[in-house]
Amino acid sequence: MIKINENYLKLQASYLFSDIAKRVAGFQEANPEKEVIKLGIGDVTRSLPDACIEAFHKAADEMADESTFRGYGPEQGYPFLKEAIAENDFQARGADISPDEIFVSDGAKCDSGNIQEIFAIDSKIAIPDPVYPVYLDTNVMAGRAGDFDNNRYQNIAYLESTKQNGFIPDLPSEPVDLIYLCFPNNPTGATISKTQLKTWVDYAKTNKALILFDAAYESFIRDDSLPHSIYEIEGAKEVAIEIRSFSKTAGFTGVRCGYTVIPKECMAYDVNGNPHPLHPLWNRRHTTKFNGASYPVQRAAAAVYSEAGKAQCKERIDFYLRNAKLVREEMTALGYDCVGGDNSPYIWIDGQRDSWEFFDLLLKKAGVVCTPGAGFGKCGEGFIRISAFNSFENVEKAMARIKSALA
Ligand code: MLT
Repeated sequence: MIKINENYLKLQASYLFSDIAKRVAGFQEANPEKEVIKLGIGDVTRSLPDACIEAFHKAADEMADESTFRGYGPEQGYPFLKEAIAENDFQARGADISPDEIFVSDGAKCDSGNIQEIFAIDSKIAIPDPVYPVYLDTNVMAGRAGDFDNNRYQNIAYLESTKQNGFIPDLPSEPVDLIYLCFPNNPTGATISKTQLKTWVDYAKTNKALILFDAAYESFIRDDSLPHSIYEIEGAKEVAIEIRSFSKTAGFTGVRCGYTVIPKECMAYDVNGNPHPLHPLWNRRHTTKFNGASYPVQRAAAAVYSEAGKAQCKERIDFYLRNAKLVREEMTALGYDCVGGDNSPYIWIDGQRDSWEFFDLLLKKAGVVCTPGAGFGKCGEGFIRISAFNSFENVEKAMARIKSALA
């Protein structure tokens, strides 16, 4: 008899964004005349930068000619992309990361979900609350989370991000092995200073723990004092893995490309306490289960680092940040406390009521889709997240509708 992985039965409802999409589709079916503005899932709306499109076309043409055609590439990514990443994303910021510490993939979601495979099943996991659901759900699937009771998995150490701590969680109050951090944060839009991040690196070093640092939103940082990478913090290479994405930086949500950095000196331990580098473990996993991101996609990603690509990406991020500023200003003017939106595409809004109720109100009365905070965890209850990914006209329209719906 074939048996299921019963850990899947412990998952709560369906994946948050599928759930929301279903509710929105139901509303649209019942109200076909109503135009819905989507400020829910963080999905880009601007086209790919010209530099990326040109590189994409050129690479597709290479595939049409036997002399330049490429079959399987290196599973870890082509050197031309890894070199551009190491130089621009890390070395230029004083972070000493080399190309062979980078693993290119088909996106940060897969990497952030898959990475837990290389750690012991009895590792104690620390997960922020609220949180991007992938970190938690993939640990539930693996069997690390325990039973769900009173809105919490029993074996997870929750790192609460609340108004009281400025949405930067305190260090864990119990010993933990694996810590998920994401800054600029999804969903709150909060940012972390170098000093604050250093306390986490120091904690990890002292406790032989490991930090999974998700920096998918780093390109939204406009405050020069904030770290873009955890490797800007001294000592982080020994205790941190960083995950990055081209999705928001360059509009690659539909193209799919991201990468994971595992420094050679980053260690985890066997049952006898002997250290083992994580780089060869992930390399083994990656080469066994993944055949590399496609060649045209990697060429398009490398074009992000050309002079034209950099300018075009920046223009797009500035565009979304203008939307974010408007959302934050309007919601603040309506009397709601907000965080994020300045170095992040997300605005986290204290709705002062049940977050699904607020979601339904905005959908039904304003035709605007947001994301209910409760979908990101217990501490998200009472909040909603509005994302800045849409046209400026739509964001203006959405804010005008929200104003009259809440009047
Ligand atoms: C979000 O809306 O939180 C993200 O876009 C989802 C994702 O990146 O998978």
